[in-house]
Amino acid sequence: MSKRKSIKLGALIHGVGGNAAAWRHPEVPADASVSFPFYKEQALTAEAGKFDLVFIADGLYINEKSIPHFLNRFEPLTILSALASATSKIGLVGTLSSSYSEPFTVARQFASLDHISGGRAGWNIVTSPLEGSAKNYGKDEHPSHGERYQIAEEHLDVVRGLWDSWEDDAFVRDKETGVFFDPEKMHRLNHQGRYFRVEGPLNIARSRQGQPVVFQAGSSESGINLAAQSADAVFSGHESMEEAKSFYKEVKTRAAAAGRSKDDIVILPGIGPIIGRTQEEADRKFDELAGLVSIELALQVLGRFFDHHDFSRYPLDDPFPELGDIGSNSFRSSTDRIKRTAREQSLTLRQVALKAAAPKGQFVGTPDTIADLIQQWHEEEAADGFIVSSPFPSSLRDFVELVVPILQERGLYRTEYEAETLREHLGLQIPVNRNTSASVKLHS
Ligand SMILES: Cc1cc2nc3c(=O)[nH]c(=O)nc-3n(C[C@H](O)[C@H](O)[C@H](O)COP(=O)(O)O)c2cc1C
Repeated sequence: MSKRKSIKLGALIHGVGGNAAAWRHPEVPADASVSFPFYKEQALTAEAGKFDLVFIADGLYINEKSIPHFLNRFEPLTILSALASATSKIGLVGTLSSSYSEPFTVARQFASLDHISGGRAGWNIVTSPLEGSAKNYGKDEHPSHGERYQIAEEHLDVVRGLWDSWEDDAFVRDKETGVFFDPEKMHRLNHQGRYFRVEGPLNIARSRQGQPVVFQAGSSESGINLAAQSADAVFSGHESMEEAKSFYKEVKTRAAAAGRSKDDIVILPGIGPIIGRTQEEADRKFDELAGLVSIELALQVLGRFFDHHDFSRYPLDDPFPELGDIGSNSFRSSTDRIKRTAREQSLTLRQVALKAAAPKGQFVGTPDTIADLIQQWHEEEAADGFIVSSPFPSSLRDFVELVVPILQERGLYRTEYEAETLREHLGLQIPVNRNTSASVKLHS
């Protein structure tokens, strides 16, 4: 067995795919993004591979340039509730924006999913990168990048407070005496903050994992700080192991500086493995997928990262344009990286767009090559595990049937589920109820 904790795995299920043209691949059911049977099959495949979790991403604004999956897809909490009853062990993580939701509703929804699933829920808190989201929520303005993170910090604090409304033995439910609950064990939050005012208590108790697991997906300075201070897990994206290593070190160091143990936070970069019996076969599969992306489509995909900036106005084969601040109020960490890579590698707009729309990444190869890379990233502390995104449906099956057994043989990955809850799968502690600990202190 390796000295490190075993590798964690999540499956990103995204209907017709993260690639703008993946829906045209012969293997992809063209209605996968709104097909419950598709989601169920993918979730069961991941569960057969003993994955820690399935992950559902989300967004709150679309237009004609959005990729097909974004145009017509399930709301995360709804699909996860359905998957809760179709699965029994795998964690269920869904994205919900702190910029466009009320903490009371969020706390209720995830606590409900947590109970329904027997302690398998996780919330991926995001700040929403697209300006257009404001128009769908009756707001005049999309908050700035910095403010979105301030809102997120307070929002998360309120949600966590609400989750602790009830001590574990608050519900007496004594039919003889007619006592349903102990009022001493019910706690109002009485939060009065800059962005939210919430009295509480929440109308649902804690689950068997205490609180849903909190994921964070945003890699700017503010994103890293939010993760280091408060998140249980991070979903990140990196172009190389070196980049992932420095991100990993940064998050763990800042978590330690915030008084946490480095094991309190699990870092899971996204990968999109394409597996072949030979390297040539894997490369061919990638080329087939990438070949579906026209340059016009690639420019739209690239544009979305920059809040739907129109890249069609620039010459395709000139150096990537100088964009100044464009993108910095959107997917900032991603747009910063795109600008940096273009500059460092002297890329043209065409090259940058095709890379954004169909990124190849390192994880294209034989099962052994991919297992070697996973092991190396894990051993060298670039990752605690991975969020596996499947470019087409059989990639997840290939991963489970061909890569997972290699990791198991090497003693790097579980052969059976050893626990029931998502927290336990990820090796995370059950958070102490802030109200229980307060009353313990009072009485001691
Ligand atoms: C790996 C990764 C996954 C993300 N997933 C989502 C998502 O599902 N929905 C969403 O609205 N934003 C998502 N985001 C966007 C972030 O929540 C954030 O709004 C954006 O990246 C800007 O923040 P940053 O500059 O800190 O990265 C994701 C970001 C990253 C890096």
